[in-house]
Amino acid sequence: KSFLYRLWKGNVSSKMLLPRLQKARKGYLDTNKHRVHFKGKRNLKLTSEQLLCELKARVDVRTIDGKEAPFSILGWERRVPKVSLSKLYPRGFGSCAVVMSAGSILNSSLGDEIDSHDAVLRFNSAPTNGYEKDVGNKTTMRIINSQILTNPKHQFTDNPLYKDVTLVAWDPAPYSADLTVWFKQPDYNLFTPYALHRRRNPKQPFYILHPKFIWQLWDIIQENTKEKIQPNPPSSGFIGILIMMSMCSEVHVYEYIPSVRQTDLCHYHELYYDAACTLGAYHPLLYEKLLVQRMNRGFQEDLYRKGKVILPGFR
Ligand code: C5P
Repeated sequence: KSFLYRLWKGNVSSKMLLPRLQKARKGYLDTNKHRVHFKGKRNLKLTSEQLLCELKARVDVRTIDGKEAPFSILGWERRVPKVSLSKLYPRGFGSCAVVMSAGSILNSSLGDEIDSHDAVLRFNSAPTNGYEKDVGNKTTMRIINSQILTNPKHQFTDNPLYKDVTLVAWDPAPYSADLTVWFKQPDYNLFTPYALHRRRNPKQPFYILHPKFIWQLWDIIQENTKEKIQPNPPSSGFIGILIMMSMCSEVHVYEYIPSVRQTDLCHYHELYYDAACTLGAYHPLLYEKLLVQRMNRGFQEDLYRKGKVILPGFR
């Protein structure tokens, strides 16, 4: 049976990956850059329903509120939005779309379906201009990693992609979630461009995710996975799925678990090929996908043809 078929059925392990990706995973396990120390217990027998309850009970979408050191001392309480992300949409959304940036969404004609949702989440520098037929053009929220804010190629300050949407930024912090250590030595220094953008666009909702939220997700993935997962934060895609589950009644995730259009084309908007984008090297992406596959409430046919998974929201 092909790898894709096995992924659809939730029946894969890291041993079935390309040797290069297996080596990458081992390398990250040996390096353990973020000093991850897993203290949880593995529980591999949860049903789909129990897994959802576990997520609902434990996932707390937290953002930096400026009340903890070192942010409190530096006056960040006035710098972050007055309304927290979890209170930004007090009535929540009905159905939501999470649009992954995978190359496999090309030629999907999913644009109209995606735009019909009440809210649409996109990632990093993924554009809609020129790709409307396949990815739609509505964007409610964008999750961006710290490289988007710091790498000049993205022109974060001026690029219209990052205007008129709710922005949620994140950066890999130590597993201890020590904010002082993180502030002094972020992976990429997102704090300066964040502060600048807040000053220039005070009305735009723009948040930084709390490292505790990110590592909480990591713990849950590891608890429910037999193998040792990469000791690195989950991908933006997984983080985004959980944020939308907390805000929506139903979440439709597109091209996370790849459809029949599966390709090594990393992003639909970039001519760059690497299987790691879909199966993971740095991120524990394969294990994230297996967890999401287990919770899928959608039709098998939609998984094959649209690369679509349907998850109930926590609302
Ligand atoms: O690459 P980037 O992080 O911007 O893509 C957004 C998210 O989409 C990823 O974090 C990952 O979860 C998902 N993705 C994927 N397969 C790809 C590319 C992206 O599952 N080929």
